[in-house]
Amino acid sequence: MNTNLLQINASLFSDAGQSTALANEFVSGWRARHRAAAVTVRDLARDPVPHLTAERFQAFLAKPGERTPEQRAHAACSDALIDELKRTDVIVLAVPMYNFDVPSTLKAYFDHVGRAGSTFRYTEQGPVGLLNGKKVYVFASRGGIYAGKPNDTQSACLRNFLGLLGITDIEFVYAEGLAIGDASKQAALSEARKAIARLLSTHDAGIPLAA
Ligand SMILES: Cc1cc2nc3c(=O)[nH]c(=O)nc-3n(C[C@H](O)[C@H](O)[C@H](O)COP(=O)(O)O)c2cc1C
Repeated sequence: MNTNLLQINASLFSDAGQSTALANEFVSGWRARHRAAAVTVRDLARDPVPHLTAERFQAFLAKPGERTPEQRAHAACSDALIDELKRTDVIVLAVPMYNFDVPSTLKAYFDHVGRAGSTFRYTEQGPVGLLNGKKVYVFASRGGIYAGKPNDTQSACLRNFLGLLGITDIEFVYAEGLAIGDASKQAALSEARKAIARLLSTHDAGIPLAA
């Protein structure tokens, strides 16, 4: 069975985003090591997932046989994203920080794939994720510096959401201080590229090798 990698780009600037460039560099190196793998790129700026509305959420909750045509279309949009995620072994997230959080396009995507009964289920002990065994790489670009500090609520939000789905094997690569000045920016990008090279050289064993 081939390995599937899903790259989700959340920068407003698509391929011109700093986070996208770092994710692209990682994926290109990963591809060279997993030649038979299938890579899917989802660009949320070019192809945004709609904002969650009450109508959409009701469509998710409605029994499949009782959905109206409009509800069927809403549920199908979420089902397709969830099927894509279920088929994926390695998830690469290119995540800029916008106003202290993930871009709203990524939040809208999360709102469509976090579905009780599909990607997690409620138990008496609390929610249990259903998407186990996946590996996530996050390429986080930021104007300021937050990693490891209490105000890095963005990393916590990503860990919490992915954890809800049962995804706990997460590597973060940060490029921070990109808005502080050119020297700070170049140093951060250079450190991030070194981190990518380290991940590519040390993580092959952890990723199922495609035939
Ligand atoms: C709308 C907007 C909001 C931003 N908010 C923050 C922020 O809250 N904290 C921060 O450190 N940088 C912030 N930045 C700077 C970005 O995180 C930084 O430019 C990053 O490199 C963007 O990544 P991208 O090039 O992949 O889009 C913001 C940038 C934009 C465009």
